[in-house]
Amino acid sequence: MRISVFGTGYLGATHAAGMAELGHEVIGVDIDPDKIERLKRGEVPFYEPGLPELLQKHVESGRLRFTTDPAEAAEFADVHFIGVGTPQKKGENAADMRFVDAVIDTLAPLLTRPAVILGKSTVPVGTAARLAARVRELAPVGDDAQLGWNPEFLREGFAVEDTLRPDRLVIGIDKDRPGRIEEVAREVYADAISRDTPFLVTDLPTAELVKVSANAFLATKISFINAIAEVCEAAGADVLELADAIGHDERIGRKFLGAGLGFGGGCLPKDIRAFMARAGELGVDQALTFLREVDDVNMRRRSHMIQLVERELDGELKGRRVAVLGAAFKPESDDIRDSPALDIAGRLHLSGADVRVFDPQGMDNAAKVWPTLSFAESAADAVTGAEVIVVATEWKEFRELDPYGVADLAARKVIIDGRNCLPTERWIEAGWRYLGMGRHAS
Ligand code: UDX
Repeated sequence: MRISVFGTGYLGATHAAGMAELGHEVIGVDIDPDKIERLKRGEVPFYEPGLPELLQKHVESGRLRFTTDPAEAAEFADVHFIGVGTPQKKGENAADMRFVDAVIDTLAPLLTRPAVILGKSTVPVGTAARLAARVRELAPVGDDAQLGWNPEFLREGFAVEDTLRPDRLVIGIDKDRPGRIEEVAREVYADAISRDTPFLVTDLPTAELVKVSANAFLATKISFINAIAEVCEAAGADVLELADAIGHDERIGRKFLGAGLGFGGGCLPKDIRAFMARAGELGVDQALTFLREVDDVNMRRRSHMIQLVERELDGELKGRRVAVLGAAFKPESDDIRDSPALDIAGRLHLSGADVRVFDPQGMDNAAKVWPTLSFAESAADAVTGAEVIVVATEWKEFRELDPYGVADLAARKVIIDGRNCLPTERWIEAGWRYLGMGRHAS
């Protein structure tokens, strides 16, 4: 099929390359000329494992190209995906729909022959119906320009895998005017469907809600275990053992019960906030009041970490050397949006601590938002002279640090495992004071 993808960020660029891998002819569109120039050269402007190889392969095969010209995409493709961002609005909880709206307002007037638009961006419920009507109104081809919603569930760090082998496909259509959307989506995703991937056709609001509900559930699960971690700390219990034990119950499951510094990134935090804001607009704000608590528990993890560091330094942060290992919001990503790691590094820095940060991939992005922070050349460089070491992102490189080697570099043997990811016994054996999150200090 001939496909366009509007937006070439983490979602759009991966989707474009993934569609090319599935055998489609793809054109990626973005308003940022620098990004497009890099993509044309087969260069991915962010870190995502496996994506550079896929991109290069299909740029070279000619099946994937990029443009800043929406008219070129409208002319070329019969199916148009929207993968632009819906960030949190400044100063409020709601999502900023500017970029999605701009794509529709640009693309729809260019549709002179039948076309299907599939929205992938995470949007407030009700958006798709509004946009579908706008498309019909603006498109010269009228009712033959149809819009459906196909939410994206990919995780950063596993984006290629999640795109090529999704665990489910959801297509929202206007049941009163189904048009060709389902048929087109089945053709686009024929490969996954042939592998019996669940393919769910819903109405538009359900499809939109599936996405935000999934993210709200994941955020709730993480904050649940972090709330329990608070109790564990007060009661002298161990949240890791507890999570293992409750995780054996199939109804609960062990995944996403990782207690630590909590969730960050470009999705979970802003999605739960936008969900609350939208529920308020719909007059059902009480239904989602618990998400405020989920958000609060999550933010408390960061303050708790600052307190732990302060306590280890006898209440005096000023001038004290602290190593923060990690800046990205999670490993295998260079994304620092709403990153707990970078947040605590910044807060310690503002409190006067002499913070040295190292992240295997996230340093360039981190330096752009925190130019006054000190960034180290390596993990070894960051820990040299440190009085406290904080592991804030669970990169493999940090999980595998040698406690004896680090002991030779650090000023004091105090490590706070903000992700409960270190082999605790090894660090204790090597003479370290080890503090986990929701675990007793050893
Ligand atoms: C998330 C959803 O998983 C994905 O389906 C959706 O499409 C986009 O949002 P992503 O933001 O890439 O994906 O990250 P995810 O792997 O879900 O992790 C989110 C945050 O939760 C990270 O900061 C991670 O460190 C944290 N987390 C995750 C925990 O603190 N504990 C856990 O047990 C799991």
